[in-house]
Amino acid sequence: MKEEKQAQPIEKHHEQPDNLSRLKKLESDELVNKYFQTTYQPPNLKKARKRLKQDVNVHYDYEIPSDMQSIGKDKTFYIRTYGCQMNEHDTEVMAGLMTAMGYQATDQMKQADVILLNTCAIRENAENKVFGELGHIKPLKKENPDLIVAICGCMSQEESVVNRLLQKHPFVDLIFGTHNIHRLPELIKEAMFSKAMVVEVWSKEGDIIENLPKKRQGKLKAWVNIMYGCDKFCTYCIVPYTRGKERSRLPDDVIAEVKELAQQGYKEVTLLGQNVNAYGKDLPFTYGLGQLMEALTEIDIPRIRFTTSHPRDFDDHLIDVLARGRNLLDHIHLPVQSGSNEILRIMARRHTREDYLALVKKIRERMPEATLTTDIIVGFPNETEAQFEETLQLVEMVGFEHAFTFIYSPREGTPAAKWQDDVPMQVKKERLNRLNALVNKQSRAAMEQYVGEVVTVLVEGESRKDAEVLSGYTERNKLVNFKGSKTLIGQMVPVKITEAKTWSLLGEEI
Ligand code: SAH
Ligand code: SF4
Ligand code: F3S
Repeated sequence: MKEEKQAQPIEKHHEQPDNLSRLKKLESDELVNKYFQTTYQPPNLKKARKRLKQDVNVHYDYEIPSDMQSIGKDKTFYIRTYGCQMNEHDTEVMAGLMTAMGYQATDQMKQADVILLNTCAIRENAENKVFGELGHIKPLKKENPDLIVAICGCMSQEESVVNRLLQKHPFVDLIFGTHNIHRLPELIKEAMFSKAMVVEVWSKEGDIIENLPKKRQGKLKAWVNIMYGCDKFCTYCIVPYTRGKERSRLPDDVIAEVKELAQQGYKEVTLLGQNVNAYGKDLPFTYGLGQLMEALTEIDIPRIRFTTSHPRDFDDHLIDVLARGRNLLDHIHLPVQSGSNEILRIMARRHTREDYLALVKKIRERMPEATLTTDIIVGFPNETEAQFEETLQLVEMVGFEHAFTFIYSPREGTPAAKWQDDVPMQVKKERLNRLNALVNKQSRAAMEQYVGEVVTVLVEGESRKDAEVLSGYTERNKLVNFKGSKTLIGQMVPVKITEAKTWSLLGEEI
């Protein structure tokens, strides 16, 4: 049985010489030296901005060290994922690494030998969920002291979170950040043998490692990272700190991955990036998302999506390429955040309401059928009623068919978190309700337009509520339920829509 782990002050774990010597003892492999970089710093705007001009290298030679390839024999792992698609996809990489070490996946947390919580830091409630889950895990650790509990993902990149874990949740065995995923084998091994909590978080992003193993969750739809990080530094947002600077994968590597997915029978690929249309800006040659998408139209895969774009980087060439259609879907998720120029300015969004409306006009001219969806924050510090109403107006003018709406949540280390805010929470909640009512009304109206139409559904499986009903999504990302035989799962099926609901459509196979 292992001894109870003792919490120690964070600096002790983070000093490079100490940590490095421990790792070297464990692992003689070149990898440690190759990838080990400096350790932990809290978010720092000035330093983060300076990172922009540094080079990124790409590696194709990743290997699981030989002494760790069967470390997980007869053992299981469980990963719970919070947050965005980037995190979902990171989970697929971690599942790939765990599997390559001989571990089996389990969906029963109570039975697992290793529990990984892949966390999100975007809003306070995302973090609260993780701390709540830790309350459930603590008794499991008491029952089985050999259980390894690991916290990774975006929360690990925050100093306050790491300190809180060290002080209040000393039973956690391992904390590692978003830039340390490839080090999972070494870190698991270290956690197995170390008496102290193992913390390895690099504030600076590393290079791109191409050949990490992946265990994808689906057989029809796949995520493909095309870039990592974000350089936009919106004043409310933690992502540029938790994910590091913008780094684009090389076009050939993305194209090869999509080709392989097509060969494996995948029907839909979503290209991922926090700021996906900044793709290519950091490459040493001129290349953008438009060119990449153009190249991907040549691949025999029925559907290609991308998320999330920033209005500022949505150029005409991209619109041209999307307008030509083929396997590129005409659904564009384009976060606007606010309809007020003053709020957009203090958010440092670098676009105005007019810029956004002009872009929407351009998109609609070239792609009249395109579905537009968005993200909106209400109750930004000192947002006035009039400014909020400008947001409502803009939502109506654009006619968004769906929106993810949020109450502003201060994130430590970001500029906005230091600002005074005179908007009471009650007012923020009321604004969110009013906005949601409008968005739902528009969503329903958009759904109603489909009644009587024939749409193509990529059938994903049985509906959650009724095993006789199949469900899947249209090209414009509308959820459709219809009765049909299970043999249709995995196929593109024409369905006539008979009824619209707020978030889904009912139909029959034709
Ligand atoms: N990279 C994407 C998405 C970022 S996170 C983009 O820029 O569009 C997803 C959404 O979370 C954001 O679009 C924003 O609406 C919301 N968000 C980010 N930080 C937030 C905060 N501090 N409080 C509330 N919502 C936030
Ligand atoms: Fe955050 Fe998106 Fe702004 Fe980047 S562009 S800072 S991810 S909201
Ligand atoms: Fe959350 Fe990190 Fe994604 S903060 S939204 S998991 S990039």
